[in-house]
Parts: sequence; structure tokens; C-alpha cells
Amino acid sequence: TWTMAGFRELEIERIRKQVGEGRVICGLSGGVDSSVAAKLIHDAIGDQLTCIFVDPGILRAGEADEVVKTFRGRFNIRLVHRDASDLFLSSLAGITDPETKRKTIGRLFVEVFEEEAAKLGGAQFLAQGTLYPDVIESVSFTGGPSVTIKSHHNVGGLPERMNMQLVEPLRELFKDEVRALGRELGIPEAIVGRHPFPGPGLAIRIPGAIDREKLDLLRKVDAIYLEEIRNAGLYDAIWQAFAVLLPVRTVGVMGDGRTYDQACALRAVTSTDGMTAEVYPFDFGFLNRVAGRIVNEVRGINRVTYDITSKPPGTIEWE
Ligand code: XMP
Repeated sequence: TWTMAGFRELEIERIRKQVGEGRVICGLSGGVDSSVAAKLIHDAIGDQLTCIFVDPGILRAGEADEVVKTFRGRFNIRLVHRDASDLFLSSLAGITDPETKRKTIGRLFVEVFEEEAAKLGGAQFLAQGTLYPDVIESVSFTGGPSVTIKSHHNVGGLPERMNMQLVEPLRELFKDEVRALGRELGIPEAIVGRHPFPGPGLAIRIPGAIDREKLDLLRKVDAIYLEEIRNAGLYDAIWQAFAVLLPVRTVGVMGDGRTYDQACALRAVTSTDGMTAEVYPFDFGFLNRVAGRIVNEVRGINRVTYDITSKPPGTIEWE
């Protein structure tokens, strides 16, 4: 009978056979797929694997540290951690168009990754956390067959350009199987059970131009929201939950004074594949508590809204 433990053993054998004495590099994003691929390959070939983690400066609060702590610290995996936030943020400065943001971010990921891979000096193999759904359909996040509503941040073509062979140990698995394999491999639940997070990160959760200050503000709001979701035991019932920083200032009252600060939106949806989505029906007491905490704890935010748009006609992300 087929078990995850059996699959792990089989894949480890396959990886060893494919790679031989060769060297493998793997891009880590902090997401489930690349994390599981990296740990599995490390179990198979140890220090023949080097992971490259490009921190684009548009991740959630604490995520970059968690990746480094888990993979280098806990799993002892060779890890290049490149803080590329200055480059990403300076390149994104002034860009307001969502698709231009995506393309800029995609291009920078490839550039920085290639740069770090070159520094490592010739690996023959590139590992990717490609899943079965990625294999059978070309990934388009929202579009019907002929319309692309949002382009995927695109690292396609990378292996050909870099003249490397692909190692894709997850290419027969669906997402829930990848999660089960991740648990089998001892990857912490905080990573294995994590909601999907888009490649362009917080940059597409700040409509309009982004900067460090706005990112910091959004991180604070988002962290409170997710903490409350976890504390209420709702995290696993939700497909994705996140905050959006709105490019709008509104008038409020705080103590004896008038405020004129920014508004934010909270979003939470259920979905099975991200193609359609329903709004998560929080009870009002929960939303009230979260809104109270955000306005009281985050200076610069004086209004909280909840996005009640399903997909379609909305999309999950605001950009
Ligand atoms: P939308 O906003 O199109 O999102 O309803 C559907 C799913 O795709 C994610 N998403 C992206 N993921 N690069 C990604 O890697 C992107 O550019 C991108 N845009 C949206 C979104 O978070 C949701 O899970």
C-alpha cells in the first residue's frame, strides 16, 4: 500500500540516482512547496544541496527570520540568505501599476537568484517545488482560457537559461499531499500549514506606490489580524487571510483629538484552488475585536474595513 513514508523513501532513492555526486541548488521562498522540496532533497543528498533564499523585503513580519532559523538553524541545510530588500524597494519606487509591479519583482527574483547561483560556482541541478497541478495546466491565476487577469511572477525559462537539469520531487503530488509529506519530513506546522502567499508579496497588498514605511505599517496590521485568527482557532478553516493598506486617509477621533490617518482593509476567503473564493463569515465580535486592536495598537491607522467581495467578481488579492 502507498504511504507517505514509502513515497519519501522512493523519492530519496530517485533523487540520489538522478543527482549522483552532482550539486543542486534550490530557491527557497518560505512557502510550503519549496520548503518541502528542499527538506526532501537534503534528506537525500545532504550538503550537495545549497538553498538560496532571496529576501525581497516584501514578506510578512518575521517570515524571513523564520526561514533562516528553520532551514539553516534547525535542519542544518546550507543556505545563502540574500537580503535584497534595498534593490527590490528602490526598483519598485514609484511604480503604481499592478502588472508592472509583478514583472519588476519577477525579473529581480531571477536576476538576484542567478547572481547568487553564479557565486556558488556551477551546480548541474536546479530544484523546484513544482506540483502536479502545475505540470498538467499552465498556471494562470485568474484568467479564463484567453484572458490573463494577473500574470504569475514568472521564473519560467530559468533552468534553460542557466543550463541546468531540473529536480522536481513533488511533481506527482497535490497540495494536500505535499503538506502530508512535509509533516512526514518534520517540517514545522507553521510552514507546512501556511496559507498561500503570492510571489509579489505585500507589494500587491498596497495599492499604488510602495515604500518601506507603508510596508512596515501593513506588517503591523497584518500581524495583529493573523494573531487573532490563530488565537480564535480559525487559521486552518481559511484559505487566505491578509490585510491591505488603503491609499486613503480618513478622519477619526482618538481621545480628545482629531486624527487624519490611513484606512486598511481585512480580507479572508475560503477556496479550494484559488480560482473561485467565498468571503469567510467571521462573527461580528471577532471583527470588532480585531478592528479595536488595530486602531489602538498601530499608529497611523484609524479605520478598518472588511472586504466582503467574493471571487468572481472580485479577485482574492486587491491588485
Ligand atoms: P487572485 O488575486 O488572482 O489570486 O484571485 C488567486 C491566487 O493567486 C495568488 N496570486 C499570485 N501568486 N504570483 C503568485 O505567485 C502572483 O502574481 C499572484 N497573484 C495572485 C493569490 O494570493 C491567490 O492565492
